[in-house]
Amino acid sequence: MSDTILILGASGQIGGELTLKLRSIYGKENVIASDIRESEILQNSEGPFEIVDATDKEAILKVVQKHRVSQVYLLAAMLSATGEKYPRKAWDLNMTSLLAVLDLAKENHVERVFWPSSIAVFGPTTPKENTPQRTIIEPSTVYGISKISGEFWCNYYHEKYGVDVRSIRYPGIISWKTKPGGGTTDYAVDIFFKAIEEGSYECFLKEDTRLPMMYMEDAVKATIQIMEADKNSITTRTSYNLSAIDFTPKELAEEIQKHIPEFAITYKPDFRQEIADSWPQTIDDSQARADWDWSHQYDISSMTKDIIRNLQAQKRPEMELL
Ligand code: SER
Repeated sequence: MSDTILILGASGQIGGELTLKLRSIYGKENVIASDIRESEILQNSEGPFEIVDATDKEAILKVVQKHRVSQVYLLAAMLSATGEKYPRKAWDLNMTSLLAVLDLAKENHVERVFWPSSIAVFGPTTPKENTPQRTIIEPSTVYGISKISGEFWCNYYHEKYGVDVRSIRYPGIISWKTKPGGGTTDYAVDIFFKAIEEGSYECFLKEDTRLPMMYMEDAVKATIQIMEADKNSITTRTSYNLSAIDFTPKELAEEIQKHIPEFAITYKPDFRQEIADSWPQTIDDSQARADWDWSHQYDISSMTKDIIRNLQAQKRPEMELL
């Protein structure tokens, strides 16, 4: 198969960093970035960029044929908090884009598909600690409903049509190059920017809200790892539990204070608290670790150190200009 990759949603939080990493592995010209808007993070990265609406199957097909694409990473989605404001839009975007890509694979236009699911598939009735791969799944957000429905569609296309689709349930993803938009776990990114810029942060979740999280480096690593894994090692065609670290806003603030002692945090929970309360606190991802050798690298302290070092370095040239 040709090794050309198409990223749909390359201007988003994960899509941008994933594109950069894939380009460093497979070569710039072999990784086609696409989105409905230009990407900030990819501005200085040479390599093809196409404006594509991920819900438009014909538009995707055109790009697939133009570049002889064999693998698609579908990262376009509306996340949990925005999804609660625009339930129908979230459903339409998340489902139409997935079915478009699955159909392209069914029709043999592409050979392999990556599509992310989320811890949002779990709901208030799910066991909160060490949540197993197979358990009660009764999501309470539209985002969660779209993700669990998508998981079953992936499995269906695999079983009925032999589509090679692979998926992981991302926890909250923490990054510093690109900000997320519209998620419940976004506080864990915002907090770093505010700590550097203002020295304080008002958190929209309560101080003791524990959630599963992961540093972007690990998320990108897992995504590429599952796509490169031998077909026979993928035993789950819905989506794999994936886990790295877990913490509360208070614990993260304390970690930041080790580097910025004057950093202050206050709490003002909003509608996102209810969403967070419905999700697990820790995840059992032993199946991913056994099937395709997944392991994470970053813990809360190495992640915090890395983010603060990078954000401070980014800020320094600006300060020198003043
Ligand atoms: N980060 C996502 C959200 O908060 C969860 O997958 O919506």
